[in-house]
Amino acid sequence: MPASPSRMLAARLVNAVLLEGRGLTLTLQETRATGADPRVVAAAQSLAYGTLRRAGRLRFFLRALAGRALSPPTLLGPLLVGLHELDARTGPDYAVVHDSVAGVARDHPRARGFANAILRNFRRRQMELETALLADPEARWNFPAWWLERLQAAYPDSWQAIVATQNGHPPMTLRVNRRQTSVQDYSRLLTQAGHANRQTGPWALTLEQPVPVAELPHFQTGWASVQDLGAQWAAPLLGCEDGMRVLDACAAPGGKTAHLLERHAPRLLALDSDARRLTRVRDTLARLGLQAEARHGDAGQPWDWWDGEPFDRILLDAPCTASGVVRRHADGKWLKRAEDMQQLAREQTRLLDALWPLLRMDGRMLYATCSLFPAENGERIDAFLARHPEARLLPVHVPGCVGDEDMCQLLPGTDSDGFFYACLLKT
Ligand SMILES: C[S@@+](CC[C@H](N)C(=O)[O-])C[C@H]1O[C@@H](n2cnc3c(N)ncnc32)[C@H](O)[C@@H]1O
Repeated sequence: MPASPSRMLAARLVNAVLLEGRGLTLTLQETRATGADPRVVAAAQSLAYGTLRRAGRLRFFLRALAGRALSPPTLLGPLLVGLHELDARTGPDYAVVHDSVAGVARDHPRARGFANAILRNFRRRQMELETALLADPEARWNFPAWWLERLQAAYPDSWQAIVATQNGHPPMTLRVNRRQTSVQDYSRLLTQAGHANRQTGPWALTLEQPVPVAELPHFQTGWASVQDLGAQWAAPLLGCEDGMRVLDACAAPGGKTAHLLERHAPRLLALDSDARRLTRVRDTLARLGLQAEARHGDAGQPWDWWDGEPFDRILLDAPCTASGVVRRHADGKWLKRAEDMQQLAREQTRLLDALWPLLRMDGRMLYATCSLFPAENGERIDAFLARHPEARLLPVHVPGCVGDEDMCQLLPGTDSDGFFYACLLKT
């Protein structure tokens, strides 16, 4: 029996993340661009995500079963995918082992026996290994040790619940475009189309089961967009009004830009330093029939793109570790390093300081991240307030926030990912 193409592709995707440090989204885009069969890519994507979600546990099993470093190292992908399938019992053991070994043997004929022994021994030693992994935090919780340490320090009572939620599957939440329809009417349309849903926020409908966007009623004509509930608080917190001059400083792919424009008619500049991602802002605005200037530029160097007219509102949705949305991007937890957070914190500070002078007196700047780590959130804002006595916090009221009452930390839960918001007023 030849090895299944989806298993082989999944193994390559896992190697791209764990050995080459490449993001899964980009690698998948490149794979699709080669004309690969969409069904094979979809099956491989699901396998790769499943494997990466539990990579701490699976790598622990593999280390114990192999007893030595893998040679060549690229055996990692096929063996982890095979172990994931055995562990999750996706099919009969003999079929998983046979097909996984055939995949290994295609690229590395001399590793056939080694792969066979590892996969066959897994079931025999599973009980013993399950007990042993309890002593290894990375294997037990499926997060890097440095990540767990920071979560434990920040959330001593809830870190285990956070980790458990983030190892699960994310909800699919829609933002209803109230320029086109009402939340109630769109909910009924979804139900009629067979997609059970419930309202989880002022504009939010969460689907019971994820569906391809092409199946959503009137998606192409802009009646709804996919956006997590936590991200849907940015637009109301910024408090725009018609005609205001607004900067969305880190705008791509444009989810929050679009929400701002669905609610009001500001003169909006959507800026992003990634030209490729900026095309997604333009596509989103075109689908929703909204208008804004989308511009390529570094928010930290305003003299390259600013015309000198102050902004009434600035949204700084800063680049961050994305630790609050990791259940959507299971590769993220293995790609980030502890040092990245220090570098991101420096960048967040640079962007805050560079954009603040562009805000008019009495104007508001909303600082947002999709992170759970205080070093990217409250600590950045406290340091900013210490440097800028003319800045004052406006209290942020969002259901479900934890921590400091003036700032909002949303933790990942059933209906929302993890987000942070702080609203700064220039006095
Ligand atoms: C968290 S994402 C923004 C998500 C977006 N606001 C939304 O809701 O769809 C952060 C964005 O910041 C952009 N970015 C990173 N550094 C930047 C910089 N120096 N100037 C402008 N954009 C930057 C990244 O390219 C990325 O698109």
